[in-house]
Amino acid sequence: EDNKHSEMEQTFIMIKPDGVQRGLVGEIISRFEKKGFYLKGLKLINVERSFAEKHYADLSAKPFFNGLVEYIISGPVIAMVWQGKNVVITGRKIIGATNPAESAPGTIRGDFAIDIGRNVIHGSDSVESARKEIALWFPECPFNWQSCLHPWIYE
Ligand code: TYD
Repeated sequence: EDNKHSEMEQTFIMIKPDGVQRGLVGEIISRFEKKGFYLKGLKLINVERSFAEKHYADLSAKPFFNGLVEYIISGPVIAMVWQGKNVVITGRKIIGATNPAESAPGTIRGDFAIDIGRNVIHGSDSVESARKEIALWFPECPFNWQSCLHPWIYE
């Protein structure tokens, strides 16, 4: 029962505007799929400044905050929910260190990015922030499998 519960862990993953513009969407989705995680939600959206500021609210005092917000609103992003055992921490490993200068080869940032301010992808850093970020980005769907499967089984 505990094991089944852990398999339901979810994380919020966002492909940032540079990743979308550079055609890395398929490559990134493929890495999470091949690992064995389940894609539970996906949308391509342009977010407004106030929304980007809310997503990064914890960083509002940082000197790079304004540049970060400008970057996130500079083009469409791919917002996703991925599910599986330890998906939060494993997702962070697949993504690699925040600064691509330090991300290991084989990670997404290690393979596809150079600058910290253009690091291609975001992933929740804890189960708690994943919960908050999923609620912020996907308010329309609770992402539990019963409610998602329901319309495909019952009229
Ligand atoms: P942070 O939450 O610390 O990293 P992560 O995305 O790995 O969870 O920072 C959020 C984003 O802010 C980060 O992906 C890139 C940007 N950033 C900078 O532009 N400069 C910096 O010095 C830092 C620490 C982050």
